[in-house]
Amino acid sequence: MRISVIGSGYVGLVTGTCLADWGHEVVCVDRDPAKIELLTNGGVPIYEPGLEQMIAANVARGRLSFTRDLAAALAGSDVVFIAVGTPPRASDGEADLSFVYDVARDIGEAIDGYTVVVCKSTVPVGTGDVVERIISQVRPDADVTVVSNPEFLREGSAIEDFTKPDRVVIGTEDERAREIMLAVYEQVRANGQPILITKRRTAELIKYAANAFLAAKLSFINEIADLCEHVDADVDEVAEGIGLDSRIGAKFLKAGPGFGGSCFPKDTLALLRTAQDHGVDMRLVETTVSVNDARKRRMALKIMDAVGGSVEGKTVAVLGLTFKANTDDMRASPSLPVVELLQRAGATVRAYDPEGMPQARPLMSDVEFTDDPYTCAKGCDAVVLMTDWDEFQSLDLERLRGLVRTPVFVDLRNVYAPDKLVKHGFTAVGIGRSTQTGADDGRHAPAQPPAAHSGNGSPAGRT
Ligand code: UDX
Repeated sequence: MRISVIGSGYVGLVTGTCLADWGHEVVCVDRDPAKIELLTNGGVPIYEPGLEQMIAANVARGRLSFTRDLAAALAGSDVVFIAVGTPPRASDGEADLSFVYDVARDIGEAIDGYTVVVCKSTVPVGTGDVVERIISQVRPDADVTVVSNPEFLREGSAIEDFTKPDRVVIGTEDERAREIMLAVYEQVRANGQPILITKRRTAELIKYAANAFLAAKLSFINEIADLCEHVDADVDEVAEGIGLDSRIGAKFLKAGPGFGGSCFPKDTLALLRTAQDHGVDMRLVETTVSVNDARKRRMALKIMDAVGGSVEGKTVAVLGLTFKANTDDMRASPSLPVVELLQRAGATVRAYDPEGMPQARPLMSDVEFTDDPYTCAKGCDAVVLMTDWDEFQSLDLERLRGLVRTPVFVDLRNVYAPDKLVKHGFTAVGIGRSTQTGADDGRHAPAQPPAAHSGNGSPAGRT
């Protein structure tokens, strides 16, 4: 099958490369000349494990190429994927669809013969109808079917998610398009993974519903974590205990500093916007968002509590800046507001991230970026583990202990067992568990739990 993928960003590149790997003939298109030049020369503009090698292998096989020339790419394509960005508009938070609509116009001008146009970009319900209308305005005789085929790729495991998906969702009521899409995803069918065919609008909504549900799961477990800290329970064990119930499921129950990234924050807001437009009250999603917003402040307060109530004049070492491990993406990373709040409270912040520092630099002012976790921790009053990179899973705690000024370890991902940290002389502050302090450590007063639970979402809420 001949396929064009418009937009060589994260989703477009992964989609195009994996489709080529399945044996399709794929052309990836982007209007950014620098990106196309980089890709043509064997470079990759994003960090995603395994992608560079997969691109190289498929370029060598002659199945994958890159171009700026959309018309040339489309000539003879059976299927065109739209995989351009839909960033939130600064004015109202609604998904900005101008890139999608521009591409629809370009497609209208360039297609020849029957073409299936696939919306891979995350777009609000009803966008497929608009794309169809735009194409037929530009080209009244166009023989196209617009299909919704949402992506569920996680950064850092995108190739695995594409090639071994939990499901593929195809939204179309057109028989011809359905058969072509099934041929595109033949490999998925062969592997026995489910392909769900729905109405186009249903498929569009599935994407938002999935992300909002997962986000709700995270806000839920984060609230339970707050409660755990007040009742001396352990959130990881609570998560295990509820996750063993197959109706709940064990995944996506890791409490942490709140969700970030390019999808959850944006998609939950966009879903709320759609609900508002239709006069539908979505209080659960609204609360999911507000619990997550309040969480960043809560994390900053947790760090302040850990060092005795104030970070004024103190140095905080932040390990990990990206919104999660195995990505260089800083979009909506909890580290951004947490660091800013610490700085506003008078802290000096030093930071280290294995991949995210080039992206973080322009977003964070007055942060001292360091070359490794140990340089970062030197002379600090608290080490804060913000992102659970592999590199932070096996830190030399003895060495770290020798470098810090005050041995306080705030583990916002619960990477370390508290007793291990305590054994190395640290006060161990985690998420959804009680703070532990070594008896031999007289230099630091343990964080005091607050007298009363102040309620999640409250700006004054403290852990
Ligand atoms: C997400 C969806 O998983 C994916 O299906 C969708 O297409 C795009 O959005 P991604 O943003 O790459 O993918 O990251 P994901 O791994 O889902 O994590 C999202 C956020 O939730 C991160 O901030 C992560 O740290 C947090 N998270 C995730 C937790 O705090 N605990 C968990 O158990 C899982």
